[in-house]
Amino acid sequence: MTYKEMYQTKLTTAEKLAESLESGWVLGMDSGPSQTPGIMKAFAQRVRNTDIAGVKVQTLLDVYPFEFYADDSLAGKMTGYSWFSSGGARKAVNGGWADFIPGYYRDIPGIIRRDYEYDAFCVAVSPMDKHGYFSLGNNASYAQAMTDKSKRIYIEVNDRQPRAVCGTQLHISQVDAIVENSFELPVLPPVVLDDVSLTIGGIIAEQIGDGACIQLGIGAIPDATGMALKAKHDLGIHTEMFTDSMVELIECGAVNNSRKQIHRGKSITTFAYGSKRIYDFIDDNPGIELLPVDYVNDPAVIAKNDNMVSINAALEVDLMGQVCAESVGTKHMSGSGGQIDYVRGACQSRGGKSFIAFSSTAKGGSISKIKPILTPGAVCTTSKNDVDYIVTEYGLAKLRGRSLAERAKQLIAIAHPDFRDELRFEAKQRGIML
Ligand code: COA
Repeated sequence: MTYKEMYQTKLTTAEKLAESLESGWVLGMDSGPSQTPGIMKAFAQRVRNTDIAGVKVQTLLDVYPFEFYADDSLAGKMTGYSWFSSGGARKAVNGGWADFIPGYYRDIPGIIRRDYEYDAFCVAVSPMDKHGYFSLGNNASYAQAMTDKSKRIYIEVNDRQPRAVCGTQLHISQVDAIVENSFELPVLPPVVLDDVSLTIGGIIAEQIGDGACIQLGIGAIPDATGMALKAKHDLGIHTEMFTDSMVELIECGAVNNSRKQIHRGKSITTFAYGSKRIYDFIDDNPGIELLPVDYVNDPAVIAKNDNMVSINAALEVDLMGQVCAESVGTKHMSGSGGQIDYVRGACQSRGGKSFIAFSSTAKGGSISKIKPILTPGAVCTTSKNDVDYIVTEYGLAKLRGRSLAERAKQLIAIAHPDFRDELRFEAKQRGIML
């Protein structure tokens, strides 16, 4: 049989495929724009219309309004478990009808291989090439691990998915069923470059020399900081998430990857999510490699590049430098992602630096993000032992290797002026020498 004939024998509709679903199935799904909204909609519909129950769906970085996250009446019948929980998953986890699996992003493929079996792995792909391969487009993070641990592979072919030539591929012979679904991929809203993010970007840019290798985390501030690096030369990219500002840096010539110690000449990432410009950039581009997250986010791999600089966001930081990037008090906001992987990798790299950057206040200036202690229930993402630099629009605090008193003094100096007296008072109350 030719590959085209094999394709035709496996081609079906999402509704027909949903007839294969059984009670108690565990489904694995890829993350971000590599998720399968057509298949999941039909599966949810079948669960709703039958007595099927106990279906579990494992996800990460949810970018579609999946019914098992949006509709609490499906809980128990079809339940979402997210490794990161953003988008609709965040609301469902906080609402109590979906669950969250804590873990470092780099560990997920290993945990999948050790602890999980899937009845089906669902993944969005670009159209088949003449050799019978489907590119997994924007994502490489844990797809290989889920492929290895799944009884069935269900793919959703979307002709708008980019074809990543240096990314994970699936061959037609590995696939059990194909659904076609053509639609524009979801995009993130464009980054807003306000005064605060421009100031923070400028402060960090002063700390970054030509030839540095960068990682930018998820959130508005890291992406805005990327935009502040356009005047640099010979930058490299080794990152978890490939962002809009990275395309900008490559296209303006600031990034050429020429001084990297590993993967010289190439940008390395494990997934991409942003604007259509990113997806067009990835398409057929041998200059970007999408590799599994257990490799890309391994601190020892990250540290192989000299002058590695990581820039990530946070929700609050206490006076010891404990960083919360996952919750507002007890309200769950996201998983750890790769923040700590890059903090550690950058700190181990020769000449490397790690920056955690955020605006000094939240909620219209009414809340200081620098706190005497973390809010009860807040999750500590980066510990006091790992943290390096903290940045707000009021400056930069170098914490790594510094005492508690030195940390508190520096952090109070970059807190919003309206909160400095209160922070100083609290620090003294706790016996921190100032
Ligand atoms: N107290 C109360 N509310 C706060 C707050 C605080 N200390 N800090 C932020 N908020 C609110 C904001 O006002 C905003 O509310 P809104 O949605 O009603 O506007 C919301 O929380 C999100 O804050 P924002 O600063 O806009 O977040 P972001 O979109 O830039 O994302 C993280 C920030 C920390 C959630 C994000 O970076 C993340 O998920 N990090 C974890 C993983 C990670 O760092 N991975 C790195 C590799 S990709």
